[in-house]
Amino acid sequence: MAEKYYITTPIYYPSDKLHIGHTYCTVATDTLARYKRLQGYDVMFLTGTDEHGQKIEDKAKEAGVTPQQFVDNIVEGPGGVKDLWKLMNISNDRFIRTTDDYHVSAIQKIFKKMYDNGDIYKGKYVGKYCKPCECFWTESQLVDGKCPDCGREVQDAEEEAYFFRLSKYADRILDLLENTDFLEPRSRVNEMVNNFIKPGLEDLCVSRTSFTWGVPVDFDPGHVVYVWVDALTNYITALGYQNDKYQDYDKGWWPGVNIVGKEIVRFHSIIWPAILMSLGEPLPKKCFGHGWLLLDGGKMSKSKGNVVDPYLLAERFGVDALRFFLMRTFPFGSDGNFSNELLIQTINVDLANDLGNLVSRTTAMAEKYFGGTLPAGQRADEALDAPLVELASGLRDRYEDAMEHYAPHKALEEVFQVIARANKYIDENAPWALAKDMEQNGARLARVLYNLLETVRLCTVLLTPFMPDSCGKIFDQIGACEGCRTWDSAGKWGSLKAEATVRKGENLFPRIDMDKELAELEKAAEEAKKAALPALEIEPFAQENVDFDTFCKSDFRAVKVKACEAVKKSEKLLRFTLDDGTGTDRQILSGIHKFYEPEELVGKTLVAIVNLPPRKMMGLESCGMLLSAVHNEKGEEKLNLIMVSDAIPAGAKLC
Ligand code: MSP
Repeated sequence: MAEKYYITTPIYYPSDKLHIGHTYCTVATDTLARYKRLQGYDVMFLTGTDEHGQKIEDKAKEAGVTPQQFVDNIVEGPGGVKDLWKLMNISNDRFIRTTDDYHVSAIQKIFKKMYDNGDIYKGKYVGKYCKPCECFWTESQLVDGKCPDCGREVQDAEEEAYFFRLSKYADRILDLLENTDFLEPRSRVNEMVNNFIKPGLEDLCVSRTSFTWGVPVDFDPGHVVYVWVDALTNYITALGYQNDKYQDYDKGWWPGVNIVGKEIVRFHSIIWPAILMSLGEPLPKKCFGHGWLLLDGGKMSKSKGNVVDPYLLAERFGVDALRFFLMRTFPFGSDGNFSNELLIQTINVDLANDLGNLVSRTTAMAEKYFGGTLPAGQRADEALDAPLVELASGLRDRYEDAMEHYAPHKALEEVFQVIARANKYIDENAPWALAKDMEQNGARLARVLYNLLETVRLCTVLLTPFMPDSCGKIFDQIGACEGCRTWDSAGKWGSLKAEATVRKGENLFPRIDMDKELAELEKAAEEAKKAALPALEIEPFAQENVDFDTFCKSDFRAVKVKACEAVKKSEKLLRFTLDDGTGTDRQILSGIHKFYEPEELVGKTLVAIVNLPPRKMMGLESCGMLLSAVHNEKGEEKLNLIMVSDAIPAGAKLC
């Protein structure tokens, strides 16, 4: 029976739509899962969503829906988390939502178990309290020492809470980090030890009473379980730990491999093993902390408005090209700077030029010179063939070594060295020259093309975890049988039948025009940004009241436009000559040229406030102000002059 292999991504916060950074993490884990399946392991790949906590509760409130409705929409709704993973061809076997009933009840049992064994105890959480908001805050949540919600003063306060005896496990965690290869890359070990363990591990507050959107502590109403305890244990509840929904926990899946982003390594390499120690369960096999995808050197975040949309990129470049780019370009353990230029360049160089050309040239020549089927009786040439054959034959081992070390970028580098060597082999052997004398050179030409097809096949087997769909198409084009698509066959040169039959197909990776594409991407991003803006935005209402007498001092009158012209040298200003009913023309200047052409306003009846002190603009005097209604539409400022019925005489008072 095949050996079991369990691998997980972090479970995502469905507080906003996911971006390319989240996609990076899931694609990487999917690639590793597919690689293990290719090797013949019985793989369980888990992903999901982490749906509790104050942030979700607040966001739902803002959106005017219940927290459950809010998360349902982002997880299951159109363009949501599940849709994105489907689009990206993510092969997860399970998807856990921390709001799933089985998980909720398992968390309650886990919490109780830790309480019963004395590792969770009731204590006091000391923090800051905002009375008007009835909210507890920690020191670090305060903004300028004040309540982050209402900006008012906060006071010292205490709240009853449950604590986990994390301190008790400090020595064992230190040993795990320093003396085993549990946490990788190793650079993260120093970070954890120096920043968190050496300064002293404190007990962890694991319940909250200041909000309700969480797993209730069933033996103490009012408390909900700290979201990280709820989230981390998903890796075992999804297998059936403390629940009946699944029965896989004791069946050899656990311990598994946890792939996580670098900022949550702390939770996964300290708190998570400590929870398992407390439960008496085996520790994870591995925690791998990958780097971040950065944009312009900084972290992507919705609040900064600099997130990159995976939907847009997948639509424009194709899912496989995007998956490939993410794995090829950025060393998995380090940060990398995302850019559209880099993406297009990678597609053009590696996929269009190197791989795409190799496949299309080879299949085209097999069709042109042999009608698609290579003849038997091929003639090898040891000196010319050996460099390519040797390099390609050893590829699987080098690739495996890289993948086993969580270095998919290195594995791809190995594959592309072989592809480059094959392209060089075409030039060295000049098949087009051999084809000039088929009688003399036909057998040699057939061998050259066979070697190329075989190299394509080997590389395609190993590229399958990265680009599953495209690799299937390449296999079809080179006529690879089922048996020549396997891990075993990737280690054996010569698995493809000598009389291989090819079928030249579509160009899988067309070259992209960099300048044109960059311009279109920018336009698409602008449009997406606009579409995400609120359809209609109005100014917040004034908080302070104005007293009636003050209001009555403002003198609003109907005025008729006698003349209107643009003020010279000003882009904005229009100069109005108005009949205000007094018999003397009134001049008002208004910065509304962006919204109106002067001619269209002549004859209209408008509203002006006429007792503002005169003001000079561009050397002209403005006596009053015309009233308009203003709002934002899709981020664009809109302005409408207040126009009243022409039946209203000039000078009529508005009150
Ligand atoms: N809910 C927690 C995880 C709980 S696991 C028990 C969480 N969720 S998250 O949605 O904020 O992040 C999920 C993963 O996406 C993390 O591993 C995080 O590092 C990763 N990424 C988010 N932005 C990223 C980049 N810009 N680049 C790479 N990965 C990043 O944390």
